[in-house]
Amino acid sequence: MNISSLQAKHMMQCWSSQKNYNPLPVFKTEGCWIFTEDGRKIFDLRSAHECANIGFNHPHVIQAMKEQMDSLIYVTDDFASESTASLAKKLSELTPGSPDKKVWFGQSGASAVEAAIKAARFWQYNRMFNEKLPEDRGVQYPYPYKIISRYRSWHGSTAGALSVSGDPRRWFTEPVTQPGVVFGPDAYPYRSPMGQDEDGIKAAEYLRYMVQMEGGSDFVAAIIVEPVVGSNGIIPAPEAYMKRVREICDDFGLLMIVDETMTGMGRTGKFLAIEHYNIVPDIIIMGKALGMYCPLSACILSDKVARVFDENIFGHGQSYSGHALACRAALASIEVLEQERLLEHTREMGNYLKLRLNELRDKHPSVGEVRGIGLMWTLELVKNRETKEPIRSAGQKYSDNPVKLLADYLLKEKNIYVPGDKFGLWITPPLVVTKEEIDYLVKSFDESLWITDGYVEG
Ligand SMILES: Cc1ncc(COP(=O)(O)O)c(C=O)c1O
Repeated sequence: MNISSLQAKHMMQCWSSQKNYNPLPVFKTEGCWIFTEDGRKIFDLRSAHECANIGFNHPHVIQAMKEQMDSLIYVTDDFASESTASLAKKLSELTPGSPDKKVWFGQSGASAVEAAIKAARFWQYNRMFNEKLPEDRGVQYPYPYKIISRYRSWHGSTAGALSVSGDPRRWFTEPVTQPGVVFGPDAYPYRSPMGQDEDGIKAAEYLRYMVQMEGGSDFVAAIIVEPVVGSNGIIPAPEAYMKRVREICDDFGLLMIVDETMTGMGRTGKFLAIEHYNIVPDIIIMGKALGMYCPLSACILSDKVARVFDENIFGHGQSYSGHALACRAALASIEVLEQERLLEHTREMGNYLKLRLNELRDKHPSVGEVRGIGLMWTLELVKNRETKEPIRSAGQKYSDNPVKLLADYLLKEKNIYVPGDKFGLWITPPLVVTKEEIDYLVKSFDESLWITDGYVEG
């Protein structure tokens, strides 16, 4: 039995019915490319789920991992290891705000989101008990526990992380998701549920209204946001919106949790996307490309939040927390970002990509909007530019749709691997992508968009 059949027979594919699972057999990866056993060279336009930001098999990281493996792969957090300690320090320094932060390490974005939710709730619990409770508070539940999230969001598939995810993947677990989560409107100027809302202020002010109606600082613990919505449409939050969300959190004493699982490690042209907004969150979540070739995530607590755990138990953990090898891979990857000036390169390639993608918009009627930042872009596809009727709506998540046809065609005919089950074409190449590779990608899109153009009305 070949490896494809073997894998299909015994491995469950994520978020999929299994009978059509047919993984391509791979023998090598390098840079932006995947090499298959049947001689194909495929461009990975999703950077291995946005994990391989510096491209596959970077020699500096591989060398660092080899050296680390020769000395120490993993010890529990009862012991200290150089790579784990150094990465915690590095992340504390690289992220906005005072460097006196503390980092919890996990292996998935979801586990770090769980850590963030627990930390935020405990911080509020502690605050409530240390404050003199007003006599007229008139509530039984003693501390603020509600988390406000948005519909266009994805924070991971474990119970807590899923509960704060607006994405339809939440539907698989409902109604037994964690209580205490309320979803608000999206800051999505192209099709805002608030009407005309270019700067996202209406959406932000609606969040304020929600906080008030959910009981304000007596009940609400935190607001969680992706600075650039990832899986739910690649939607960069307007600057005014993010600043207003920070203000609302300050006005009510809420914690601002920023999920950088997809946007971190240079994806948007800064180390973290939040740096575009010049605000300081209380909790930052990283994952995916943090460990680059190793599963690694981080829940980074600001000094203010971390202090509460000096005297109280941090009630979260995983067997492999602070894995020395994964931390070494992360440190080496950050070195690559710095030494190869990949943040500058990302911004430069992002500007070029934007220009080239706008050419496609001018030519192809199914391209409704070109949207993104750094090397995180989408062509949102529509049936009608005037009405903006989507070519695939959120509710159609698991049905066949024209975006999937386009993605299948790009893989089969153009050797480009791109997520199929989306609202449009995703363009999230490894940050090492070259101008020539971008030209090749854009030319291939140009020759393939006839598929979705065929669905345009009129
Ligand atoms: C913003 C965001 N948060 C959390 C997650 C969950 O990460 P993981 O799949 O590693 O649990 C993802 C994954 O796509 C994500 O994009």
